[in-house]
Amino acid sequence: MKKFDKLFFSDIDNTLLGDNESLVKLKRLLKTANMEVGVGVASGRNVESSIDILNTNEFIKPDIIISSVGSEIYFINDDNSYMELIEWKKYLSDGWDRDVVFKTLKDIENLEYQEESEQKEHKISYYINESTNLKEIEYRLNNLKFDVKLIVSKNKDMDILPAKSGKGKAIEFLLQELNMLISSALVAGDSGNDEDMLTLGTDAVVVANYSNELEGLKKYDKIYFAESEYAKGVIEGIKHFNFLQNNNRDKVNI
Ligand code: GLC
Ligand code: MG
Repeated sequence: MKKFDKLFFSDIDNTLLGDNESLVKLKRLLKTANMEVGVGVASGRNVESSIDILNTNEFIKPDIIISSVGSEIYFINDDNSYMELIEWKKYLSDGWDRDVVFKTLKDIENLEYQEESEQKEHKISYYINESTNLKEIEYRLNNLKFDVKLIVSKNKDMDILPAKSGKGKAIEFLLQELNMLISSALVAGDSGNDEDMLTLGTDAVVVANYSNELEGLKKYDKIYFAESEYAKGVIEGIKHFNFLQNNNRDKVNI
């Protein structure tokens, strides 16, 4: 694995994607940076679909893919194929029982099990609607013998993951693996499944087209709400935090 000075992580749908012209500019900004920037994506999509959509949109082949809402982590190999980080999978297995979650919610109405391609060992996903009884779901999940994380995105998707999973925890795990500080990362997102990575303490950018479940993050001074949408908002955030500038000040002070 390469050594990076900084790590950039962005959600894919409605954060990277949505404004093609700005995506091209973002790509250029990351590629011409005066330092080694690791490019990562963190998506609700599975890994194949993440790779496909990034290819279709001619984005950089990421060094790291956090897929299926953080339930899987992949690193790029020298031959441009991807390899799953098995340590993460093992770590998530401890204490988690997918079947129990499935059975617990089996008879809930207005809850539609998503396609098999979206179901992972450490991610169980449903479609919800305005009639779904979220309180009852929360109540049942709270009474399980193990802790789970319930994530609602755009009032239509619901994911259940081990409590120690999610995009944010996956990034924390990666930073440890790579021996890097929280301050060396920037994350960008737009919806519910991005919340835990936006509150990690890294530089964090919410694009202007964010969905309402992120409204609560406005109370955090450290999270930057961009005025622009999609990749343009991401660029705005990178500039706001001077993320791609070498911080010489620290060196001078030593
Ligand atoms: C993506 C995934 C889906 C998930 C949603 C929100 O659309 O395909 O399974 O529920 O993201 O995380
Ligand atoms: Mg998104």
